[in-house]
Amino acid sequence: MCGIIGMISKNEFSSGDLIEALKKLEYRGYDSAGLAMIDNGIRIVKSVGGIKNLEEKAEEWKARIGIAHTRWATHGSVTEANAHPQLSNNGKIAVVHNGIIENFQEQKKFLIENGFTFYSQTDTELIPNMIEYHMKRGYDFVEAVKRSLKHLEGQYAVVAIHKDENKLIGIRKEAPLVVGVGKGIFFIASDIPSFLDYTKNVIFLEEKDMVIVDDELQIFNLLKDAIVERPVVKIDWDAEQAKKGEFEHFFIKEISEQVEVISKLSMLDKEIIKDLADEIRKARGVYIVACGTASHAAMYGLYLFSKISKRHINFCVASEFPHFHHFLTKKSLVIAVSQSGETADTLAAIRAAKAADARVISITNVMGSTLMRESDKSIIQRAGPEISVVSTKAYTSQLAILSLLAYELAGKLEEGREKLKELIRYVYYLTSLNMREHVRKLAEGLRYTEHMYIIGRGLQYPTALEAALKIKEVSYIHAEAYAGGELKHGTIALIEQGTPCIVFTSKENEKETISNAIELKTRGAYIIGVGPNNNEVFDFFIKVRESGELNSICQIIPIQILAYQLALLRGCDPDRPRNLAKSVTVK
Ligand code: F6R
Repeated sequence: MCGIIGMISKNEFSSGDLIEALKKLEYRGYDSAGLAMIDNGIRIVKSVGGIKNLEEKAEEWKARIGIAHTRWATHGSVTEANAHPQLSNNGKIAVVHNGIIENFQEQKKFLIENGFTFYSQTDTELIPNMIEYHMKRGYDFVEAVKRSLKHLEGQYAVVAIHKDENKLIGIRKEAPLVVGVGKGIFFIASDIPSFLDYTKNVIFLEEKDMVIVDDELQIFNLLKDAIVERPVVKIDWDAEQAKKGEFEHFFIKEISEQVEVISKLSMLDKEIIKDLADEIRKARGVYIVACGTASHAAMYGLYLFSKISKRHINFCVASEFPHFHHFLTKKSLVIAVSQSGETADTLAAIRAAKAADARVISITNVMGSTLMRESDKSIIQRAGPEISVVSTKAYTSQLAILSLLAYELAGKLEEGREKLKELIRYVYYLTSLNMREHVRKLAEGLRYTEHMYIIGRGLQYPTALEAALKIKEVSYIHAEAYAGGELKHGTIALIEQGTPCIVFTSKENEKETISNAIELKTRGAYIIGVGPNNNEVFDFFIKVRESGELNSICQIIPIQILAYQLALLRGCDPDRPRNLAKSVTVK
């Protein structure tokens, strides 16, 4: 949901450097982009479309201070006027912003009454003008930013510059903002990958922190009304991980990286897992919550905890969870799963839990994320930066962690770790060129399909849900998933001659699922089997060996590849699906 970055350096940098840093945030939004640099006044350039368009339009400027933005539109259509940075009326202040200002209409009215004019439909334009308003009343730049943002409601991360000030100011409220601390160079950005080429030293800002960087760095917390100290953390992400390297797209690169992720997690420190498992043991009532792909991982947890640990946990998509707050007590435990740790619905769910004094633990990929900071305990997924908007390796890392937790709860952690280790070579095979070639044949046959149905039973049901989501979000083919037994209760009416249906099987539920496949075939469906054994009912078969409880990790991989190939064949950009943004920081 919009990527923002500010750079301030002892030495000059170019507009090209700023654009390169911005490109690492493109997964956050890509309908328009812009940048501003201080060079004898504020120079500004904006363009509609991806950052490539901005790159073509931008001249080679040099400066020591600059800000940039890549947009996922909320207020106002996709036009240059609505792209950021937004300028104040006097042209002296430029601002980039991620989030939504909820009281912008009344604030805008106030500014109009005070002689300001608005040239865009954005809520953002309010901010530089509010700063100008306060500066006109005699406050300096820093104080004016403070006063302006104190009264804004909603969620925001903002970076502001002033043409006559040697300063970069950033401020956050319920939206991510981190500081990169390099040698003679500082960054204030939505996410770490943007500055990994320069530094791995990061400050994670807290709620309502305002960071002011000139020759030094100072953090002021608006809630405490005081200067605060925040630690500098060295993160173990690598700049190369945030680049495509030899791959054409992040999507396929990240599919291939799943082998390293499983390998890392198979060696995860036992104490980390034990500690979280103890929280589950102690709790009375455990709820697992998440959104989108992460919710499919959470649902896998639901099945797995029942099967392996003989424990009941409750599952709920995070956006619905606050409706169940009535059941929460201080003995309840909420497990939140979120790659970004910034998803607004997931955060709202854990805040509902906190309001009832329940405990919260989280599984997240981003160290220092809001979810991590607001949880009592967290486990980091160790998937490395996931840049593609479509989640792949983060999903399988969530499955792996949940499987370890389930095994630990059953007193069999070693067995769980061994099972993950046994999977490493096989996951490598599943992402290999051989598999890609095989799946490509299927993709060619399906490229003009409009509708597709996917079924699975037990652990294969969340896999079916995840498979449908992958196909929908990158190829725009309508794909719907059902529990194996459910399709016949209505939706089977939609099956026609040639309707493709993917059927996930496993040793445990082979018979019933094959019966369901036969029901579909009888109505003319084209059946694609994914599982350990071929069957005469399948028109196309993807063999994925039997891996018991870990089938879910293996079986999704060929379908991730299928979604990727369908996207390519249908002319869709796999890394930047339409209408989507990586972390959904609005409710
Ligand atoms: C789909 C996808 C989304 C996210 C969802 C939650 O490929 O990426 O469905 O899984 O928006 O995001 P996180 O995990 O960051 O909370």
